[in-house]
Amino acid sequence: MAATNFLNKSAIPSRRFDAVIVGAGGSGMRASLQLAEAGLNVAVLSKVFPTRSHTVAAQGGIGASLGNMSEDNWFWHMFDTVKGGDYLGDQDAIEFMCREAPKVVYELEHFGMPFDRNADGTIYQRPFGGHTANFGEKPVQRACAAADRTGHALLHTLYQRNVRARTHFFVEWMAIDLIRDADGDVLGVVALEMETGEVMMLEAKTTIFATGGAGRIFAASTNAFINTGDGMGMAARAGLPLQDMEFWQFHPTGVAGAGVLITEGVRGEGGILVNSQGERFMERYAPTLKDLAPRDFVSRSMDQEIKEGRGCGPNKDHVMLDLRHIGADTIQKRLPSILEIGHKFANVDATKEPIPVVPTIHYQMGGIPTNIHGQVVTTKNGVNEVVNGMYAIGECACVSVHGANRLGTNSLLDLLVFGRAAGNHVVASNLKARSNKDLPKDATDRALERLARLENSTGTERVQDVANAIRSTMQQYCGVFRTDELLQTGYTKIMELDERRKHVSFKDKSKVFNTARVEALELDNLIETAKATITSANARKESRGAHAHRDYEKRDDENWMKHSLWYSEGNRLDYKPVVTKPLTVETFIPKARTF
Ligand code: FUM
Repeated sequence: MAATNFLNKSAIPSRRFDAVIVGAGGSGMRASLQLAEAGLNVAVLSKVFPTRSHTVAAQGGIGASLGNMSEDNWFWHMFDTVKGGDYLGDQDAIEFMCREAPKVVYELEHFGMPFDRNADGTIYQRPFGGHTANFGEKPVQRACAAADRTGHALLHTLYQRNVRARTHFFVEWMAIDLIRDADGDVLGVVALEMETGEVMMLEAKTTIFATGGAGRIFAASTNAFINTGDGMGMAARAGLPLQDMEFWQFHPTGVAGAGVLITEGVRGEGGILVNSQGERFMERYAPTLKDLAPRDFVSRSMDQEIKEGRGCGPNKDHVMLDLRHIGADTIQKRLPSILEIGHKFANVDATKEPIPVVPTIHYQMGGIPTNIHGQVVTTKNGVNEVVNGMYAIGECACVSVHGANRLGTNSLLDLLVFGRAAGNHVVASNLKARSNKDLPKDATDRALERLARLENSTGTERVQDVANAIRSTMQQYCGVFRTDELLQTGYTKIMELDERRKHVSFKDKSKVFNTARVEALELDNLIETAKATITSANARKESRGAHAHRDYEKRDDENWMKHSLWYSEGNRLDYKPVVTKPLTVETFIPKARTF
């Protein structure tokens, strides 16, 4: 049952840290490791035990041009990332990430990460969608893998290093809102201990958001239930913009009906997609890369096959992923979890039967805008300004390296590169020498008002009804293919749900458990993310990457080569230019994307 110290503002306790990190997934723990090892007093808050963060679900690998299997280099990786993102990614950030990639992978290896090995002892790398040699000529093996449990191995490695470095974890704590002062500086967060319901201020000289994505705004999702867009919600309520929120990636292979991820590593190891006629249809859509074209491309091709009546099953609503020819030995060695997922979620033995799959929401390319150090930036009259005391890293951030469509394996890479970069930047800023700024009088107001609203509400809406309605609306009106009519209808419905959300209440207030309170707080974050997504998508009149618009089939570089910035207040959009100039090399000029 909940304690309610939040009903009395003066009873809210406070603790002070050099840095507070919200989220203990890959990016949060990579950053906390830098800080703790540098001797800073760092607190990491997590809604779940750190090794249960969503990074644990990442399967296929980490993209890095180690060249262990055949020739590879960071420049080819950069090209694939720019082209994969349909030229919306910032090329300075992409160059930085691809150059840093081998370094962060070797660091992990030295931390003890149990990568799969080649016979010569080097890290095993597998092919993945959109990874090519020599600027698109042929597939290359770039995904550094620990079987099909790479995220699991990564998260456990980082957790153990953090324990060794004495990082202070606040497990099962939820951040409710940011503390910002009149200068716009960020001074920490107000947070709720989920077990007791007590509220506390965590004051920090630096606050780092590593809260992950918001994949739970969709009904069919590969995301964990904790992925409710908490970082985006907090940022939006504190007046910060959200960038490129119209771009959501559908992973081609979620188990049909269950949503559980089947790694692209299956196709990397030789698996193929087939339609009801037994045809390997990707040969028609992407003659060079076939089943290993980027995800937006493969998902659209699957959707097309289904729409044209070549789907499988009684409802012709999915296609099949066939890996039987890979052989039971390789499947057991390289893809053991897939075998298990096939059994548990599709009731098939993947060594003998194909797995039914369908494009499923997987990743948000957008998020809180940052620079390559992870510092949160706002843009006024075309000029970027750093928000003092605030960083964002991993999926909740938009730096932007994924543009309009992320390459598989670049998300684990992103969280390592920018988690480390943010950590280094904070360490270099000499926090120890600075003192915490005084808190403003209204430090807790936003958070406490939200809690009090729930406590005092006489409304009749149930949290789960509104949350489910958000999910089904986003699924139906903001899917793989979009139209003006779909988006406009979806927009209207999400705005109506925003009104309903304000009237959620608990049936019997004397019996409110903290989990119910947490779900109600998450609902406020789901709606901010859903509004940002549908508003930004409704405004973008072109097709680019994951934003496939039937009424505007072509990419329009003249009018739409720009990042969207959505503001919660007034549900307002602004735009800023894409950074087309890399750090040291020539710009990759936009071309038509064929694979
Ligand atoms: O298919 C996968 O294993 C997912 C990887 C990713 O999203 O990067």
